[in-house]
Amino acid sequence: MKKTKSKKSAVVSRSGRFSGGPAADVAAFSESISFDWRLWKQDILGSKAHATMLETIGVLTRKERDEIHAGLDSLGVEIESGRFRWKPELEDVHMNIEAELTRRVPAAAKLHTARSRNDQVALDVRLWLRDELFELQDELRTLQRALVGLGARHPKAVIPGYTHLQRAQPVFFAHHCLAYVEMFDRDHGRLGDALQRLNVCPLGSGAIAGSTLPLDRELVAKLLGFVDEQGRARITRNSMDGVSDRDFVIESAAAASLIAVHLSRLAEDVILWATSEFNFIRIADAYTTGSSLMPQKKNPDIAELTRGKSGRVIGNLVSLLVLLKGLPMTYNRDMQEDKERLFDSVDTVRSSVRLMAAMLDHTSVKEDVCRSAAGDPQLLATDLADYLVLRGLPFRKAHHAVGAVVGFAEKAGRPLDRITLAELQGIEPLFGPDVLGLFDLDRAMSRRELPGAPGPKAVAAELRRWSRLLSTDAQAASGPN
Ligand code: ARG
Repeated sequence: MKKTKSKKSAVVSRSGRFSGGPAADVAAFSESISFDWRLWKQDILGSKAHATMLETIGVLTRKERDEIHAGLDSLGVEIESGRFRWKPELEDVHMNIEAELTRRVPAAAKLHTARSRNDQVALDVRLWLRDELFELQDELRTLQRALVGLGARHPKAVIPGYTHLQRAQPVFFAHHCLAYVEMFDRDHGRLGDALQRLNVCPLGSGAIAGSTLPLDRELVAKLLGFVDEQGRARITRNSMDGVSDRDFVIESAAAASLIAVHLSRLAEDVILWATSEFNFIRIADAYTTGSSLMPQKKNPDIAELTRGKSGRVIGNLVSLLVLLKGLPMTYNRDMQEDKERLFDSVDTVRSSVRLMAAMLDHTSVKEDVCRSAAGDPQLLATDLADYLVLRGLPFRKAHHAVGAVVGFAEKAGRPLDRITLAELQGIEPLFGPDVLGLFDLDRAMSRRELPGAPGPKAVAAELRRWSRLLSTDAQAASGPN
């Protein structure tokens, strides 16, 4: 093995206490700049607010504050344009920005007063998540619109609803789509809950025990938008919790996992529907892929990848839970490992939501195929039992009688709607001549108008309700949640 030499470097965190820089492999092992550079915008915002506050308590002069602000702004421009050179030997985003700023603006040597990377990173991740979760909420709305749109383009399409993946009862295709709209709405709410809880400012917690200097934490919180509905500052109430809490990371990763699970179930439905066996939908060519060998293939890769990617989102959540569970108070370097997991969960879920929405916008339903599958008279066996209930038979007895009818039909090799009235009455005398009209699919659907049920009026009303709620105007009026 090659021996590593201790490399001389200007690592800010080591100046004074250490005689030299870390060994090269130590630096490579411990750097996080390769992934936490993504927090640069939040880091700059936090530093600007901190500098503003330091000026109000007399640690910085106005001139120094302005120089720091201007320096941070110009660093931001450079980073944004890709011209900034990140240095792994400076470990992380916080040190990279501070070191370069101090090189250009000497007053920046005062910027880290009463601040630690421990409260700085807690702040940056909260700020980052705040933006990302808001955007993810918007993307969920787009996905919901795509589902409502797909249902609304085919309001008359009826499919068999399945339990145990066995045909159960007929439902409108739109009803099936709206089931997912409900799920994604709860996901939206869960992101809102996470946002509410994470929108609290940890800056001022210092490394663990706050500061001896008279910081104005509330000012910093207000400058960074950590406020309640009345505009009052929301700050963390315990400095140790402020630097060691990663609940907000886990909560966000958990909300992302549930979105991923819902997406995966939707993907599975799409994959099944696109098979020759089901053949319920057509996905536009641009949203499918071919096979390198079999010329006839048209594969639903977006749905498959979405289903596949849900695995890593769930894995990230588990990694984060395990990462945290054994850590003593307060900050431990282990926590640096949270970022890649969190970034991956948010990125993966955001792109999956976006692609699934786009694919659904380019999907159509083969209504004839769906109707003939839903026309299987067995799907109305429960209606037959309900018919007997309406004639006074206890449901258990009605269930038994219809079971016997189904068995009889199977033996006779005839579909359920081809059993004669006499044969039906042989099994249960309460069957009357009107029973045969029960098998008309449109009439069968009209019998299902309870709230929440898939009757034509109920589903049309739900489609209208959701279109209204999801219209961009209504969104703007109701705010981000
Ligand atoms: N890169 C670090 C992290 O992500 C920042 C905090 C480092 N703090 C420290 N005391 N070494 O956790």
